[in-house]
Amino acid sequence: MFNVRKVTDDLFWVGGNDRRLALFENIHPLYHGVSYNAYVLLDEKTVLFDTADWAVGRQFIENVQHVLNGRPLDYLVINHVEPDHAASIQEILLRWPKVKIITTPKAVILLHQFGYPLSAGQTEEVREGDTRTFGKHTVTFAAAPMVHWPEAMVTFDTTNGVLFSADAFGSFRSLDGKLFADEFDFDGEWLDDARRYYTNIVGKYGPQVQALLKKAADKIGLDNIRYICPLHGPVWRKDIGYIVDKYLHWSSYEPEEKGVMIVYASMYGNTENAAEALASKLADRGILNTRLYDVSSTHVSYLISDLFRYSHLVLASVTYNLGIFPPMHNFLADMKALNLQKRTVALVENGSWAPRSGALMREELEKLKNMNILDDGMTLASSLQEQNLPDLEALADAIAASLAQ
Ligand code: FEO
Repeated sequence: MFNVRKVTDDLFWVGGNDRRLALFENIHPLYHGVSYNAYVLLDEKTVLFDTADWAVGRQFIENVQHVLNGRPLDYLVINHVEPDHAASIQEILLRWPKVKIITTPKAVILLHQFGYPLSAGQTEEVREGDTRTFGKHTVTFAAAPMVHWPEAMVTFDTTNGVLFSADAFGSFRSLDGKLFADEFDFDGEWLDDARRYYTNIVGKYGPQVQALLKKAADKIGLDNIRYICPLHGPVWRKDIGYIVDKYLHWSSYEPEEKGVMIVYASMYGNTENAAEALASKLADRGILNTRLYDVSSTHVSYLISDLFRYSHLVLASVTYNLGIFPPMHNFLADMKALNLQKRTVALVENGSWAPRSGALMREELEKLKNMNILDDGMTLASSLQEQNLPDLEALADAIAASLAQ
């Protein structure tokens, strides 16, 4: 049975929700599902904007058929070729073999690489600033290279102010019958999933996202965007400035808020104890916006997400095989891979005979841009002892002083 929502009088959401997928991109855990969004415009011509993952393929096709109500599908605009959106292209081609595919030249190359059976003349390549008119609706195309694939573009409908934003402004989480961000408690319920999606999927490409936001502001005017229709998560029709502001923070690597994230790597609980003690010392100083994570039991996508949120980070690690504890090493590698910048960091190292993790973590952090590594840190020999307490107090003071700046 079809399941569609109306976005505007002549634009329909025809996507689907996937609550069975355990790992998005086979890496990132999903506990609340994900939606694959696609949209049909009914004008003098009919236009489908993107397709959907094969996991929801049957639902998606039923939805498209219902909205078309017997009309042919004239155009398929492909903003992004990644298979979580493009997988159902083949099914569209089987049902509507005369459909014209409008997309970027790079996307055409990728469509062939992924093996879609495109017939001669089936694709129309568009470039930056090109327009197409489908009746009363005219759309313009803007390249969005490396947000987060090279072929990506966004499409802006100049008639009704709808921006088809591809993966930009997307989020993990299924829609559960609702569609618009204002139908949810977005800040309370969705923001963490939206941040985890952005930071882990697109986070590396902050400069490219900044360029896209600037292009949208200069060429379209943010006030002229009345709807944002992303490929995952809710559609924005109110308070668009809220999500744009989040993107400005995340893409510029500026923290959203002052706070301290403490991540510890502990084999037998002694480094964990030091991390707990530091959190208590911070609370004694009135610093309550703190989060404490065990790097071994927290999926790194959650750690990366909170890194983009908080201004300060404490890494506390045991020394393991004369190196950094492997899950902590992996966390540091992900920070580098995702281009994290502009954080203040304090280090705590532990080792029973040759503590080295502090110096080694510092080496890794120095590979990142604009990181402020506090001189105050702590070296433990197996466990936190009475003689370490002055160092613990000094470390808490240093973090408090930095937060106060
Ligand atoms: Fe949701 Fe880049 O695909």
